[in-house]
Amino acid sequence: MHVFVEKLLDSVKALSVDDVYLAPGLAEIDPRKVDLRTRFSRDVELLIPIAASPMDTVTEFDMAVAMALLGGIGVVHRNMEIEKQVEIVRRVKEHPPIRLRHVFVEPEMPCGRVLEYMHSNNVRNLPVVDSEGIAIGYIHIADLKSRCLEGLEVVEPRPGKAYRISEVQDAKKALLEGSIDTLAIVDSLGRYIGTLFYQDVLAETQPAVDKDGRLVIAAAISPFDKARALKLDRYVDALVSDVAHFHNVDVLKASRDLVKEVSADFVAGNIASDKAVEDVATWIERVDGFRVGLGGGSICTTPDVTGVYVPTLYAVALVRDAVDKLNLRVPVIADGGIRAYGDIVKVLAAGASVAMLGYMLAGTEEASAPIISIGGAKYKPYRGMASEGAMKRRYAIDRYARVSKKVEEGIEGLVPYRGSVYVLVPRIVEAVKAGLGYVGARNIEELWKKARFIATQKKVVRVKTEI
Ligand code: XMP
Repeated sequence: MHVFVEKLLDSVKALSVDDVYLAPGLAEIDPRKVDLRTRFSRDVELLIPIAASPMDTVTEFDMAVAMALLGGIGVVHRNMEIEKQVEIVRRVKEHPPIRLRHVFVEPEMPCGRVLEYMHSNNVRNLPVVDSEGIAIGYIHIADLKSRCLEGLEVVEPRPGKAYRISEVQDAKKALLEGSIDTLAIVDSLGRYIGTLFYQDVLAETQPAVDKDGRLVIAAAISPFDKARALKLDRYVDALVSDVAHFHNVDVLKASRDLVKEVSADFVAGNIASDKAVEDVATWIERVDGFRVGLGGGSICTTPDVTGVYVPTLYAVALVRDAVDKLNLRVPVIADGGIRAYGDIVKVLAAGASVAMLGYMLAGTEEASAPIISIGGAKYKPYRGMASEGAMKRRYAIDRYARVSKKVEEGIEGLVPYRGSVYVLVPRIVEAVKAGLGYVGARNIEELWKKARFIATQKKVVRVKTEI
């Protein structure tokens, strides 16, 4: 008897996104017409299959708004006080479904500075906002030029209408029909919220919205933190479980109790096996989606620290088959190790409905970490949520937090700064559409049916391995 030897030799042959590519098929439509509509969870519909990961260097307000405006969704991380997380999701829900920028001038700004500011933003007028945060008028480049020439330093605004959130459609019309290129958007008390740009009205993408037309938003929770989940529940479309190993009896019990008290969709995760799906379905009355991946994250050291790892691509296929077998009809979210645009197409082809991105979004302007300049190059910090720094922050916020990990399972580093998510995500979307086009799929459901994988023995040689 060689029980252990046999077990070893019987090891499962799991494949990762680096081991396979997709085979081409007959394309019947122009790839630009590919429809990427999908579901994040049972009741949350998206226009693109992309979610921003709940990590403290990735998803807070700016990322969440941007992702929803681009047709995806942001999952706000939980490494902050409950009140702050609630405030972020509440503000996302109040944000109009169009891009606003925080670009305005202050009354005391010298006219030379305002002129520079207009040039750098490529606009000819800007709202003026006073120290109380009230939009008090506009300054136009024509006024500035004469004032600067006269040697007058301080900017004086001209009166002009600021538009309420409920009047955003009127503001869009005014920009399209008028000669100005920015307008101030304010709340019901006249407080400045943001500036609407003519160029953004022209480039408008379709946002992902709830049934009331508000931007979609999700928030990360621990199933043990019922107080947080209950406070978030009235604002979010989905509560996303944020534990490394959901397939744990204590987590299952806590989640079973929690779902009875919340009305938002509940996404269980992370899991990485078919048995986990079966146990979740047995234990928990209502699960609206599965977040899938274990040890695959770019900042993750779980495979080295614990010896446990399932390639995300393989885990997605396993979970998806189990979901279908039990006829659960809920989406699968692929999470961890998605580094190239094509990886998104591969995880979708393996049965996912959405790709959750940490690394790919961490270097963007909207990611929730400051830009760091080193020797003329720009970077942004990116860290695992089980890294030393992130865990210290968690315990500093909540000294009663469950100390589930005594050893770090993540690292902290810097990623190159890569500009705005409003530029990056549309590029990713084009690439994903092209991928479906090659396979000959009009939409994600067709991709599930038509995709054929090619396992490669040899790595494709690329000039540049990262994008
Ligand atoms: P990417 O590859 O997009 O992965 O950067 C993001 C996902 O990684 C997971 N995550 C972690 N996994 N230790 C881990 O083992 C960590 O410290 C950690 N932080 C995040 C998480 O699922 C995230 O969405």
